[in-house]
Amino acid sequence: MDKLQRTNLYKQAKEWVLEAGQRIREKIDDPRTIQTKSNANDLVTEMDQQTEQFFADKIRKQYPDHFVFGEEGFGDEINSLEGTIWIIDPIDGTMNFVHQKRNFAISVGVYVDGVGEIGLIYNVMEDTIYTAIRGEGAYKNHHRLPRLPEEKQLNQSIFALNTTWMLPENPYISHEGVHDFVKTIRSTRTYGSAALEFAFVAEGIIDGYLTMTLMPWDIAAGVVILKEVGGSVTTADGQNIDMLHQTTVLACHPQLHSEVIKDFVDLK
Ligand code: IPD
Ligand code: CA
Ligand code: CA
Repeated sequence: MDKLQRTNLYKQAKEWVLEAGQRIREKIDDPRTIQTKSNANDLVTEMDQQTEQFFADKIRKQYPDHFVFGEEGFGDEINSLEGTIWIIDPIDGTMNFVHQKRNFAISVGVYVDGVGEIGLIYNVMEDTIYTAIRGEGAYKNHHRLPRLPEEKQLNQSIFALNTTWMLPENPYISHEGVHDFVKTIRSTRTYGSAALEFAFVAEGIIDGYLTMTLMPWDIAAGVVILKEVGGSVTTADGQNIDMLHQTTVLACHPQLHSEVIKDFVDLK
C-alpha cells in the first residue's frame, strides 16, 4: 500500500468511525437489548452488533479484498495477519455504555501484513477522536500529541489497572507483586475501556496500563497510536504482542517499562 492509498484509507476509516459514533449518540437513550456472553458480566447489546455490522458492510462493499476481524462475529474468520485487516471493537467499554451511557469508544485498527498502519479510537459521547497513521504522529482531534516526556519516575506515575485481578488472588499474576506496584506508584485509575486507557497513555494523562486478558480488537488501534508518541507496548512479560489471540498487556512510558516487568510482574 503506497502513502496516498494509506491516507485515503485513513480518511475513509475516520469518516465511518465518526458516522458510527453519531448513530450511537442518536440512539443513546433508546431501550437496550442486553445479552451476556462468556459470563454474567460480559455484556453485549444490539448497538454493539449493529455497529460492527455497519463497518463490515461498508468495508466489504468498498474494499472487497480487505478482511474484518471484529469482536461480535460479523467479520471474517481470521487465522493469519496476511493482507489488509480491519481489527474492530464496535463498542469498547460495553459495561460503561450500558450503565453510564458514556466512557466507551469505537476502536478501529488497520493492519497490513501484521503491521499496524492506522489507528482510530473514538470517545463517542465526548466526541473526541484519537488517530494515528504509522510514522506520521498521533492526534487528538486536530491537535498533534507531543511525544511522551524524556523523564518519568515510577513513584510519580499513574497506571490504569483493573481491580478485578489487582485485589484478589487470580489466575494470571501474583497479586503480591501488584500490591507492591500499587504502593510504589502515585495512583491507579480504572476507566473500563481498554481503548480509552491506551489513548490516555498516548495523551500522557496516565503513564501506563497493565492488564491481563485483552483481545486484539481491544488494543489494535491503541498500539498504533501509542507507538507514535514513543510509548512501549508488549505483553506483561515483555514479549511482542500477538495480534491474533488473547494477551496480557503492558503499555507505558518507555522509561518505566523494564522496571515494571523486572520488579513487579510475576505471571503465573
Ligand atoms: C472490555 C473493556 C474493559 C477490559 C475488558 C474488555 P468490551 O471490552 O475494554 O476495559 O477490562 O477486558 O473486554 O467487552 O467492553 O468491548
Ligand atoms: Ca473491548
Ligand atoms: Ca466490545
